[in-house]
Amino acid sequence: MSFVNANYLNLPGSYLFSEIARRVNAYVEDNPKRKIIRLGIGDVTSPLPPAVITALSRAVDEQATDSGFRGYGPEQGYLFLREAVIADAYRDLGVGADEIFVSDGAKCDVGNFQELFSADSKIAITDPVYPVYADSNVMAGRGGPLGEDGRFAGIIYLPCTAENAFVPALPEERPDIIYLCYPNNPTGSVLDRGELKKWVDYARERESVIFFDAAYEAFISETDIPHSIYEIEGALEVAVEFRSYSKMSGFTGLRCGFAVVPRALSGRAALGGEKVRKVALRDLWMRRQTTKYNGCPYIVQRAAEATHSPEGKRQCAALIGGYMQNARLIREAFARKGLVVSGGINAPYVWVTLPGGTDSWRFFDALLRETGVVGTPGAGFGPSGEGCFRLTGFGRAEDTIEAVERLENFTL
Ligand code: MLT
Repeated sequence: MSFVNANYLNLPGSYLFSEIARRVNAYVEDNPKRKIIRLGIGDVTSPLPPAVITALSRAVDEQATDSGFRGYGPEQGYLFLREAVIADAYRDLGVGADEIFVSDGAKCDVGNFQELFSADSKIAITDPVYPVYADSNVMAGRGGPLGEDGRFAGIIYLPCTAENAFVPALPEERPDIIYLCYPNNPTGSVLDRGELKKWVDYARERESVIFFDAAYEAFISETDIPHSIYEIEGALEVAVEFRSYSKMSGFTGLRCGFAVVPRALSGRAALGGEKVRKVALRDLWMRRQTTKYNGCPYIVQRAAEATHSPEGKRQCAALIGGYMQNARLIREAFARKGLVVSGGINAPYVWVTLPGGTDSWRFFDALLRETGVVGTPGAGFGPSGEGCFRLTGFGRAEDTIEAVERLENFTL
């Protein structure tokens, strides 16, 4: 028998959303008549926008013709999509189409990008956090032993709680890699321009690299909240950015996203002794992707392109508006109960601090049992998430209204 990658054995038994699905399925089996309202995983429920469907079916039809048929696509993604992305979001920020890498979503990119760094790299994550950041580094051997406090000894945790308004402090110990997700999953909080500048300045001074997950930027409603880290001067030299069509255009099933890897962003390679040389991360990512990935389907890239057209943008804005209306209702329901609530303004997630530090998995089970509403226990996002709970605005409007009514009658 061959030895396995023992780092996997350090991971929690199952991925957070798999564990939630397991518990919900067990409940459904025991209560087949009960209507379940799923506001746990941030999965969209509205149909794809008409502009996307039109582009998708046109691209499908092309595949039936000699002239329109496509085999393997360009390795970084089709230029038509990369140029649409630049025109829409990056033209004034100094990013070019050759710095965009199209993929099948941000989850894979944020999970894979750490491969470009040495095994002993130190990572910093906010706590609570999207579990992919921690788990992918644990798989790569950067976690070290899991302590009784639920923290991996090798990872720097940056607590985000109601006390610091969910804004992490700069780490004292220098990380090689800093994961930031803003608007934040799960807390729904944001960093304003001044706060984000502190991180860019820190990364420049300490020679760290920021992995900036901007999957929720389209949900920002307030001014002075940056949509891209490259709005901050100097970020091109220290940050890679990840974006996704999943939440803003309903692509969780279709799958498309992209990474922005600026040419100016580099890491170090040891040459022996004290000598090091700079290595462009863009070149390494190109090498990695061309080796391990064959690209997002042509038809999906055409669909993604349609979200950047004036019509597509209007339709996506309407989708987002509906989800944010749901988030507002959830937010207000918890606020009426006198609880500390974050999110639901610039992000589709509502993060609630439970009374008296209630155990969040116990709350998950009680809420499901009593109301049939599924949320996500804060502890699933990290130790600082214990005592908190997340609901998403991605449900159907009528279901969200019903969930809020059920919540009104539920004693916390
Ligand atoms: C979430 O619920 O946190 C997200 O849907 C997970 C994801 O995007 O992978």
